[in-house]
Amino acid sequence: MLKVPNHVAIILDGNGRWAKSKGMPRNYGHTMGAKNVEGVCRAAYDMGIRYLTFYAFSTENWSRPDSEVEAIMSLLESYLKNCQKIAKKNNMRVRVIGDLSRLDEKFRNNIKALEENSKTYDGLCLTIAINYGSRDEMVRGMKKMTRDVLEGKLEVEDISEEKFSSYLDTAELPDPDLLIRTSGEMRLSNYLLWQLAYSEFYFTDTPWPDFHEKELRQAVEAYSARDRRYGGLKEEGSNV
Ligand code: IPE
Ligand code: IPE
Ligand code: MG
Repeated sequence: MLKVPNHVAIILDGNGRWAKSKGMPRNYGHTMGAKNVEGVCRAAYDMGIRYLTFYAFSTENWSRPDSEVEAIMSLLESYLKNCQKIAKKNNMRVRVIGDLSRLDEKFRNNIKALEENSKTYDGLCLTIAINYGSRDEMVRGMKKMTRDVLEGKLEVEDISEEKFSSYLDTAELPDPDLLIRTSGEMRLSNYLLWQLAYSEFYFTDTPWPDFHEKELRQAVEAYSARDRRYGGLKEEGSNV
């Protein structure tokens, strides 16, 4: 029987190279990449995946040319605006993680409204990472935790792995079971470093705009064949 991961995190990579290979500008790749998100969400939910977390824009991506940063931001803004309708139609809860303080106010307000309006939907839980970097997330969490200690709201002795997790942007999410990165690179690029401690990794050469239901199923099949151990032994309870 197919073991379906509960939470899949995806580094959607390769938009630029995909567009170049077609003789098109990089931003065309971002447009087609954004268009691909809805179909993959639907396919994932139909397969039994309950949480999907996409890496859309990293803290390092600001170093790209201004015109590309602007194009990606405006695509994200219009995707999330449109997402109000999609969330309702597909009973989907939407969250955004990352340091949103760098986004403009209108964008931030739209995100807040979308999170608020979709919080009772109990279908797929979709999370989009925007201006997200795992190191940045941990530093922000650490600052908040330190403030709570200084204000007497938290005892140093009560700091545990669970407590630290509760200060991260992903506090309400389970850890991913499977990480997928499209387009051939085999690195994490500062994504969910803490949360991926025991996740299975799947890398594919397929660029994001070509990654559809069939490719997702292949990733889930590969996951299903893995032997997850969490540091223990294969037979549960065995100490041989
Ligand atoms: C992923 O595609 C989208 C973002 C990082 C925003 P890229 O833009 O990284 O495409 P490649 O990797 O250069 O082909
Ligand atoms: C990772 O992709 C970030 C996102 C997908 C948003 P990049 O294309 O930015 O990563 P690097 O630069 O190849 O490591
Ligand atoms: Mg890339």
